[in-house]
Amino acid sequence: MNSRPKTAIVTGAARGIGLATTDLFREMGWQVAMVDRDGSELEKVAGDRDNVLAVCRDVSNPQDVGAMVREATGWAPSIDALVNNAGVAEFGPVEDCSFDIWRRVMETNLDGVFLCSQACTPALRQAKGAIVNIASISGLRASTLRVAYGTSKAAVIQLTKQYAAELGEYGIRVNCVAPGPVKTKLSVAVHSPEIIKAYHDSIPLNRYGSERELAEVICFLCSEKASYVTGQVLAVDGGFESTGVGLPALRT
Ligand SMILES: NC(=O)c1ccc[n+]([C@@H]2O[C@H](COP(=O)([O-])OP(=O)(O)OC[C@H]3O[C@@H](n4cnc5c(N)ncnc54)[C@H](O)[C@@H]3O)[C@@H](O)[C@H]2O)c1
Repeated sequence: MNSRPKTAIVTGAARGIGLATTDLFREMGWQVAMVDRDGSELEKVAGDRDNVLAVCRDVSNPQDVGAMVREATGWAPSIDALVNNAGVAEFGPVEDCSFDIWRRVMETNLDGVFLCSQACTPALRQAKGAIVNIASISGLRASTLRVAYGTSKAAVIQLTKQYAAELGEYGIRVNCVAPGPVKTKLSVAVHSPEIIKAYHDSIPLNRYGSERELAEVICFLCSEKASYVTGQVLAVDGGFESTGVGLPALRT
């Protein structure tokens, strides 16, 4: 048994799923390098917590990512997990998806995952650590208004498998969590009351997930309990992905 404290890097940690994941890691006795580009929010939430390092960096910027890893490895004895959670959502019809929008979504949701994984690999290799990428149900099933978002998340799923295939021999596990709708600032900004109702109707568990329910699965995949799990995509979505058409009609 190794008794040294473990460390996770969690991106997009200032709020939502990333913040809930930070808190669960802390409950498990880990320390967390909290990465976010929203400096004021990050300072506020990190200031309220022990065993954390606030790292104000943009995951879509290679220089920032290099600096982020230097800060985290200078603070922590090892990097045992990387949770690539930072993400942005911009929804709209394909005809209205400008190249600027496309790039804004890709640079955080896809480039960010690649850059952070690449930069953390040497440290993860030393610790035989784990990577968990946060994709989305939108990366598993096509839907309207998500040409950039859905494509970025589908790519994250493939990226997970590519990394798992190559990093397994170093003892690094790489998995992916695909959340269904979770009530966070990100989803509140893009889900109207009609969208919320439609989601409730199509999800067997009849509700949105909570940030904590996502954190539980993310932390499990980072932990020793998942020591023989790699290259997997786990939908945490109340049954949304596994369900065919017609469920709301069948219910009534
Ligand atoms: N909330 C949902 O319903 C839902 C559903 C499926 C997938 N997801 C995915 O889960 C992840 C977290 O979502 P959330 O709802 O908690 O989001 P959120 O918007 O509440 O939080 C995201 C955090 O990431 C940070 N961030 C964004 N771009 C960044 C960048 N380039 N560099 C550093 N930090 C950056 C933001 O400042 C914010 O603090 C995202 O990848 C999202 O796509 C969320």
